[in-house]
Amino acid sequence: MTEKDFKRSSFEHLPKSGNCTWKSPSNIALVKYWGKKENQIPANPSVSFTLDACATTTTLEYTLLDEDKDEFSFDLFFEGKPKISFKPKINKFFERIEEYCPYIRKYHFKIETSNSFPHSSGIASSASGMSALALCLMSLEKEIVPEMTQNYFNQKASFLARLGSGSACRSIEGNLIVWGNHKDTIGSSDLLGVRYPYEVHSVFDKFHDTILLVDKGKKQVSSTLGHQLMNGHPFAENRFKQAHQNLLKLQKIFKEGDLKSFIEIVESEALTLHAMMMTSLPYFILMQPNTLQIIHKIWAFREKTNSNVCFTLDAGANVHVLYPESEKELVFEFIKNELVAYCENGHYICDRIGFGAKQLAVDI
Ligand code: PMV
Repeated sequence: MTEKDFKRSSFEHLPKSGNCTWKSPSNIALVKYWGKKENQIPANPSVSFTLDACATTTTLEYTLLDEDKDEFSFDLFFEGKPKISFKPKINKFFERIEEYCPYIRKYHFKIETSNSFPHSSGIASSASGMSALALCLMSLEKEIVPEMTQNYFNQKASFLARLGSGSACRSIEGNLIVWGNHKDTIGSSDLLGVRYPYEVHSVFDKFHDTILLVDKGKKQVSSTLGHQLMNGHPFAENRFKQAHQNLLKLQKIFKEGDLKSFIEIVESEALTLHAMMMTSLPYFILMQPNTLQIIHKIWAFREKTNSNVCFTLDAGANVHVLYPESEKELVFEFIKNELVAYCENGHYICDRIGFGAKQLAVDI
C-alpha cells in the first residue's frame, strides 16, 4: 500500500448535495507514538485500544458549488455554535488531503461536530474529531465511487485521519490497532492503522479504561511541539528501538493473556513518554502532583491485592486506569474510594475497549 493507492484524479458523478453523520471514538495507546517525520509519518510503531464512550459525532452537509473557489469553502459548528478558532486546523487538514480528495474544492461543507466528553476535560479530541471528519469525507467519496470496497473505505479513512492528527488513524476500527511499520507485524504500515493481526486472549475482551480527570485545563505544550522535540533528542534512537521491541513483546502477552507482563510494558511506555518530555530541550512536565499520587496508589493497591489494575498516560496529566472485566467491581470500588479524590472536581469518565466508528442515521 502506497500513497498512490489513495489518489483519485477523475470522477464521473459528483452528487449535488447530501449529508452523513459519523460517531468516531478516541483511542488510548499502549505503545506510544511520540516523534514523527514529514507528512505525519510516525518515528516508531504504536498500538492502541480503541475506546467506546469518548467519541466525537460529526455531521457533514455537502453542496456542490457552481465553480471551484480559491479557498476551501466550509462553515464549522461545535456543539451547535460557530467555531472560528477550529477553522485553521480544518483548513490545514483540507490542504493536506486535497491531492487525495480533489473533489473537496468543488463543495461547500457545513461541518457540525460535538464531543461525548466535556470540552474542558483535558481529553484531546483530535483523534476522535479528525477520524470522524475523515469518515464523513469517505462517505461522500463513496457516493462518487459507489463500487469502492469496505476495506478500501476504512483504509483511506484511516490514511486521511492520519493526515489530520497522527493518532486519529487508530480510531476507525476496533479493538486493537497497530500503526507504523513494524517488521514483525504483518500488514503494518506508516500510512494507516490496521487491526492487530494476531491472536488476542479473551482476558483483553471488554477491558476497562476509567479516565481520571486530574487536570481539565488546556495542555501547556501541544503534541505537535512535543513530537518536534524528538528530533535531535538525545535518547530518541533508543526510544524508537524500544517501541519496536515492546510491540514484539506484546505479541506473546496478547496471545497468552499474561497480564503481569502487560502491566510492565504499558506502565513503562507511559513513563517513557513522559521521560522523553522531561529530557527534551526545552524540557517540560505534563504530569501534576495528583498524577503521581494516583500512580503510587495504584502500585500500593496492586501490591496489597495482587490485582491486575494498571495505568497509562497520554500527553497530559490525566490518568487512564486499565483493568480486566473480571476485576471491574474490585477496581471500581478502589477508584471511588481512593483515586477520585485526586480528580479535578471529582470528575472521571468510565470507558472501555470499543469496536470502532459507526455511521449514524442522518437526523437533520
Ligand atoms: O496524534 P497526536 O499528534 O496528538 O499525538 C498523540 C501522541 C500520544 O497521545 C501521546 C501517544 C499516542 O500514541 O497516542
